[in-house]
Order: sequence, then structure tokens, then C-alpha cells
Amino acid sequence: MLLRQLFDAESSTYTYLVADEASRKAVLIDPVLGQVDRDLKLVGELGLELVYVLDTHVHADHVTGAGELRARTGARTAASAAGAPCVDVKLAHGDALHVGGIAIRALATPGHTDDSMCFTVPGYVFSGDTLLVRGTGRSDFQNGNPNDLYRSITEVLFALGDATVVLPGHDYKGFTSSTIGEERAHNPRLAGKSAEEFIRIMNGLGLPPPKKLAEAVPANRACGVTPVH
Ligand SMILES: [Fe+2]
Repeated sequence: MLLRQLFDAESSTYTYLVADEASRKAVLIDPVLGQVDRDLKLVGELGLELVYVLDTHVHADHVTGAGELRARTGARTAASAAGAPCVDVKLAHGDALHVGGIAIRALATPGHTDDSMCFTVPGYVFSGDTLLVRGTGRSDFQNGNPNDLYRSITEVLFALGDATVVLPGHDYKGFTSSTIGEERAHNPRLAGKSAEEFIRIMNGLGLPPPKKLAEAVPANRACGVTPVH
């Protein structure tokens, strides 16, 4: 399996390129609209064929590149059935997408948003904004719910096994990856914390709304094609 981590500095978003080396079929996870040229150049240089574009959720902090990538390559977009109406493949918990010899499995992990999903391949989890390195996504808008987030992390993600590599959707502190075991032991919001303690932490964050909330959410419900005003 070929795996690349790409970064958008403006939104601190990680995009992942995952490809099956034998068939050269590839997917992009959480692409950013402003980075589509970079991502397609890399896909071309590596001799890959983009077959799916996945979003872990309807993002509020950047506009997805999914619609643009679909238009330019013919790749199909995929995301939770609970999310953007524009996607081609609407996923439910446990569904698998086959990319050459690789099966990418979707896990429903609501809490950051009600449509949040994580994606797994053997040994790795693309954790979106559900679980970040030493942090989590917020849970105070887009039908977020801290109790759901706690259950998604502790019951779904922690069940993947301690050695599973965590590849987050964002990072603001300079980290690139972690493991489930490391986050279980050292994530300050989760390590040794009950659901009640986690909810208290999440409800006390007092974060300002994301700068692109008003623009990004309607655009992302249309796969990144900005609605005409
Ligand atoms: Fe998010």
C-alpha cells in the first residue's frame, strides 16, 4: 500500500493519498479545494488512477476538493449517508470501498458532527476530526455532541487495537501521527477520563466559530462547488 500525508497550511488540514501499488488505483481522503492542483500532480507523477474521493465529514473550516476532483478525473465521491447530499457513494457503518486489493472500511463516529466517519485500512485509521493527536475535534456545532464523541472514540476507535496508527484530519501542534495506544494513555481529554469528565471539558472549551463556517458548510454540502448567491 502506498500512503502519503499532505498538508494545507491555511486550514491545518491533512489530506491522505492511499493507493494500491499493483493496480495503481488510488483514493484521496479529505482533499482541500485550494490544493487540488498539487494533489492531482502527485497522483500523475506516481502513475496512479484516482477512483474515489472520501470526506470524513462536512467540514466547517475549509472547502472540500471532492467535487473539483470528481469533475477533473471522473473519480466518485464517497462520504457518510448522513452528510452532504452531493456524494456519489453514501456510506454506512461497516461499509467497505475496494481500491484494487485494498479494502477501506467506513466507521460511523458521530460526535464532532453527526455525519463524521473514520476510515480504516489494516494497521491505520484515518480519524478525521473525531480523534486528533493529543486532542479531539470540537463538538459544539453541526449537530456535534460530546457524549456521542466520547462513545465514538472509546467504543469504536479504541477497539481497533493499540498498535493502530492514527492519521488525523488536522494538526495544530506539529504532530503528524500517533497510535490508538498512545492516545488512550496520553490524550489529555481522554486518558483516565469518564464520559462526564470529557463532556465537562468539551462544554468548557469556549472556542470561537471557525472562520469559514458560513461559507464552507453550504459549499461542502455541494461537494465544494460554491453556491451562487
Ligand atoms: Fe471538522
